[in-house]
Amino acid sequence: MNEINLKIRRGTVGDAETLAPLAVKIFKDAFAANPLNKPEDMRVYIKEAFSLEQTKRELSNAETVFYVAEIGVEMIGYAKLQERSTEDCIADASPIELSRLYVRKDFHGRGIAEKLMNECFDYARRKNYRTMWLGVWEYNFRAQKFYEKFGFARVGSHVFQLGSDAQTDWVMERKL
Ligand SMILES: CC(C)(COP(=O)(O)OP(=O)(O)OC[C@H]1O[C@@H](n2cnc3c(N)ncnc32)[C@H](O)[C@@H]1OP(=O)(O)O)[C@@H](O)C(=O)NCCC(=O)NCCS
Repeated sequence: MNEINLKIRRGTVGDAETLAPLAVKIFKDAFAANPLNKPEDMRVYIKEAFSLEQTKRELSNAETVFYVAEIGVEMIGYAKLQERSTEDCIADASPIELSRLYVRKDFHGRGIAEKLMNECFDYARRKNYRTMWLGVWEYNFRAQKFYEKFGFARVGSHVFQLGSDAQTDWVMERKL
């Protein structure tokens, strides 16, 4: 890949029409083939989490920060940070959540996720956060490995509701 063409920038509400279908594609590519995820639960979650309306709401929220990765004019991934979000197992009273890190499957293993992650760390440090945390599905081994490479460690778990299925997410955190 020609790294020169990769651009990471803040996402804006004008990105919603591109970002919403990209999020659906990445989510389906990552989770639809797993027999633990029922198609109906996937459908329900996708409808509520990645609709154009919901995506616009999140992109307009002052406490939700998006970074998008583009090659030329093509969006290939994004990261979403959520301020004022925490969990019981996080000791820091004011952490920031990495609420999504999504890269298109054909760009996995090519350093895109790392660049998005570093933008998130830079943002959080600029805002004086001391802890970043995230939830990752207990069976999402690739993402767990990725987060461990970037210094995140498991501190607990929480429920992630995929439609009717109450799944277990690991909660991981990293000091900044
Ligand atoms: C999670 C994600 C952002 C990571 O980006 P990436 O480019 O795939 O990450 P990397 O290739 O740098 O790192 C993944 C690591 O997991 C390893 N890995 C791959 N498959 C694995 C598996 N089944 N089990 C364990 N480790 C695995 C890779 O070898 C790599 O480690 P290495 O660098 O030591 O070789 C990306 O895979 C993605 O967007 N996935 C789909 C959406 C998703 O799951 N997002 C996270 C939700 S919490």
